[in-house]
Amino acid sequence: MTRPWWRGAAFYEIYVRSFADSNDDGIGDLPGITSRLDHVKRLGADAVWLTPFYPSPQKDQGYDVADYYDVNPEYGTLADFDQLVTTAHGMRLKVLVDLVPNHTSDQHPWFQAALSSPDDPHRDLYYFRDGKPDGSPPNNWRSAFGGPAWTKDERSGQWYLHLFAPEQPDLDWWNPEVPAEFEHIVRFWLDRGADGYRIDVASALFKRKDLADVPMVENPVTGTLRQDPAFVVVDQPQVHEVYRRWRQILNEYQPDRVLVGEIFEPQRQSRYIHPDQLNMAFALIRARWDANLWRRSIEVDMQALHGPGVAPSWTLSNHDVVRHVTRLGGGSVGQARARAALLLLLGLPGQVFLYQGEELGLEEVDLPPEERRDPLFIHTDGHQAGRDGCRVPLPWKKGETNAGFSDAPPWLPMPPGWDRFAVDAEDASASSMLQFYERALGHRRRLSPWLPPSIGWRPAVQGVLSYQRERLTVVCNFLSRPVAIPASGALVLASDPLACHSDGLLNLPANSAAWLDALGSR
Ligand code: NOJ
Repeated sequence: MTRPWWRGAAFYEIYVRSFADSNDDGIGDLPGITSRLDHVKRLGADAVWLTPFYPSPQKDQGYDVADYYDVNPEYGTLADFDQLVTTAHGMRLKVLVDLVPNHTSDQHPWFQAALSSPDDPHRDLYYFRDGKPDGSPPNNWRSAFGGPAWTKDERSGQWYLHLFAPEQPDLDWWNPEVPAEFEHIVRFWLDRGADGYRIDVASALFKRKDLADVPMVENPVTGTLRQDPAFVVVDQPQVHEVYRRWRQILNEYQPDRVLVGEIFEPQRQSRYIHPDQLNMAFALIRARWDANLWRRSIEVDMQALHGPGVAPSWTLSNHDVVRHVTRLGGGSVGQARARAALLLLLGLPGQVFLYQGEELGLEEVDLPPEERRDPLFIHTDGHQAGRDGCRVPLPWKKGETNAGFSDAPPWLPMPPGWDRFAVDAEDASASSMLQFYERALGHRRRLSPWLPPSIGWRPAVQGVLSYQRERLTVVCNFLSRPVAIPASGALVLASDPLACHSDGLLNLPANSAAWLDALGSR
């Protein structure tokens, strides 16, 4: 059996609104992406994942879908999508579409019909319920964006459920019409050439049927009462039937199509990643810069998955988390650690997911409150900064208006000096993050076919991690001082140019990592 294309692949997440703007309206779009696919290809990615590009009021930047069968006019047309896919395939790049099955937009025709009358049958496609006798919502569930997970439909007096923003009503997957409709949607984009899906909040589709209150328990740390984190609201067994059905549908297509679940908890993943369900989920490493914590995260992610060829999908950043250069300390320290972290993860068996801009070393942007768009910021009255800071558009050209992204002001403003990260500037500099990413992905591609699917940890001093995959040895120094480690092989790649290897000793500067190849030469 030949190895499926996605096994060990490098995926690149494109945040559609912020990647490339072809018509100078300050908003990224599909033709913009098509015109810049060469950047992704040169980087060494095998596939792109496009964040939602459907018609949407953009209350959650596209994760509020008003029509699953079309393209948001701000982003282009279905013909533009087709062109993107054709161009990507011509470059041997796969294209993943983001599917949002947990909720629709409140502007979706189903929900609009549901609101039109208390007797409208479309109400059964969502969770409309009476409130409690005291006038409070049907239960105490909380929205991920703050406040109750229920909003009152004033016309009927009933409440509807939304685990996210009020403009994102949850679909009732217990109603067979919902899964039936999504089977059409799944086929629709596959028929247009999509190579698979990233599934939004993949474990949440079915809610517990009794819609019971979450019990309140004492927080062992603070002593205050809080909702019991062990009480399961989502993750119902029936969701697996849905993915089994989708897998059957995907299996009708050639070559292999892929399903990636937005599931982060390693323990949960093992129930979904199965030959008859999903191919993969995300191993997002958010630990602070500490060798023990990173080792534990890596081990937990690797041990959770079972089965031949099954391995984690390593991820440092995405459009929902603070950019990892900033998380790891920011400035030159954050940049150095980000390079080291990349080498540490790229040496592991499994897939890797890159988030646009990390290859440029972009940092989180501290946007002023009046520029923030994220519902997380809006619905928590600014108590949570939200995710806009990692969504600022990409800088393409140094010295140009808005760093070459657009002639118009970008939908999220770029901070001063953003163009120092511009793609053209980093392309021209051998020491740039971009060139480092290209080299790292290139060596990974060259070596991967020869490496076993497991690793062995090597003994190392406190603060240093080292593992081996047959000919490849990876060493990462988490300390803020240099270390010398006994190691053999040719130094193929180091995250710091001052790293050197001689007389069996690898000298690693602070916050840096290196790859040694027992069979290689530089
Ligand atoms: C996960 C997405 O990544 C995030 O951006 C979105 O806000 C929620 N799901 C709700 O769709």
